[in-house]
Amino acid sequence: MTYLGIDLGTSGLRALLMGQDGTVLGSAERHYQVAHPHPGWAEQDPADWIAALDGAVNELRALPGFDGLRGIGVAGHMHGATLLDTDNRVLRPCILWNDTRSSAEAATLDGTEGVREASGNIVFPGFTAPKLLWVERHEAEVFARVAKVLLPAAYLNFYLTGTHVADMSDSAGTSWLDTGARDWSEALLEASHMRRDQMPHLVEGCAEAGTLRAELAEQWGLAGPVSVAGGAGDNAAAACGIGALSEGQGFVSLGTSGVLLAARDGYAPDPATAVHTFCHAVPDRWYQMGVMLSATDSLNWLSRITGATPAELTAPLGETLQAPGAVRFLPYLSGERTPHNDAAIRGSFTGLSAGTSRDDMTRAVLEGVAFGLRDSFEALKQTGAQIDRLIAIGGGSRSEYWLKLIATVLDLPLDLPAEGEFGAALGAARLGQCAAGADWQAVMTPPEIARTVSPDTAQTAAYDSAYAAFRAAYPGIRAVQ
Ligand code: XUL
Repeated sequence: MTYLGIDLGTSGLRALLMGQDGTVLGSAERHYQVAHPHPGWAEQDPADWIAALDGAVNELRALPGFDGLRGIGVAGHMHGATLLDTDNRVLRPCILWNDTRSSAEAATLDGTEGVREASGNIVFPGFTAPKLLWVERHEAEVFARVAKVLLPAAYLNFYLTGTHVADMSDSAGTSWLDTGARDWSEALLEASHMRRDQMPHLVEGCAEAGTLRAELAEQWGLAGPVSVAGGAGDNAAAACGIGALSEGQGFVSLGTSGVLLAARDGYAPDPATAVHTFCHAVPDRWYQMGVMLSATDSLNWLSRITGATPAELTAPLGETLQAPGAVRFLPYLSGERTPHNDAAIRGSFTGLSAGTSRDDMTRAVLEGVAFGLRDSFEALKQTGAQIDRLIAIGGGSRSEYWLKLIATVLDLPLDLPAEGEFGAALGAARLGQCAAGADWQAVMTPPEIARTVSPDTAQTAAYDSAYAAFRAAYPGIRAVQ
């Protein structure tokens, strides 16, 4: 028997076929665009996701074992609002997680009594509820026709099963879910003028949400029934992929955004710290994470400015951690979530001199991101999360210098998985396997660890002082802007 994991990412879709024993049999990718009709806006046409899914599945159909497909799981970029009318037609392009047009609506909701308490989270501008308030205000005709709001992963689930179903982990990022009770909250829905009948039916991520539509099963050449899982938001799915489901387990992800995630056995929200507290993709588990919006994006920005690739920028730094540099970079190119919840803040370089080199600026960018992750780490610790080590994932973890820096700034060992798959697509395939009957505790195991990057303790004190200076810079830059 085989299982299909689908990771609906911001820039493309990755589909992966997994065998019964968890080995990856093959994968396929398709890419699509993000439209930016105005500065700060980010939209996608859900039809592009379907075309990407069809294309990727068509490629995987050639693999031996595809005809034994028994379960499918979908992971998706979170918070996006896909609006459907009563005939399930998409009413407008999906407004994405990194779209900041609804900052004012988010602030209004966030200031509404009881909202943070019920959702366990700040209402960030990227979350779903403020998007609907924005649509109500600016596109009243569309708002009046909204019969269902589906997150991106739930929209793919709808395509696969024909039913409106969403999982708890993704739904926790809407600001409509009572995250502790794992149910839609009437009070939260009312606060953004929505109704329960406009929401999909909720299931746990590892539970069966439905079965593959007969039409698709035939098209894909499948005979037997195929279970489709509730699925997950991308970070919860990545946690499933590396087996981070219990207290003490977590990861640091150096992707476009930087995520520091800790699995939690209980529900311990702390919205004041701008930590995200979401349901996990398995029952009775939650996870908490700090999210910084520009991690590798900061290095990519420097790469664009200098015309050197990220690898060309970091290579001259070597692998030996240097003392903190004199140049400081604040990584707020797209605003920041944890710990500032500030969509308007922007980045800065300070401490430049006539002698500042490209290497100095690269180091400052890597340090600024490491300090941003430390902010998330401090916020997570305040919630009582126990973090003694982390698995490092994401494109940025290819830089040895960056890994040593982050290990030292967090004063934590970072474990690096052996080559192979362990991301959201694998987590999604594992959810598909659970939906088809497997026990999640048996399936969601940690990857083989190839090596561990330890903190450079001789430099802990120097980096602690540099971090304190980084922290102190925020109010100043905020006041200037
Ligand atoms: C999480 C978040 C991102 C998106 C896109 O809150 O906004 O991780 O899911 O990856």
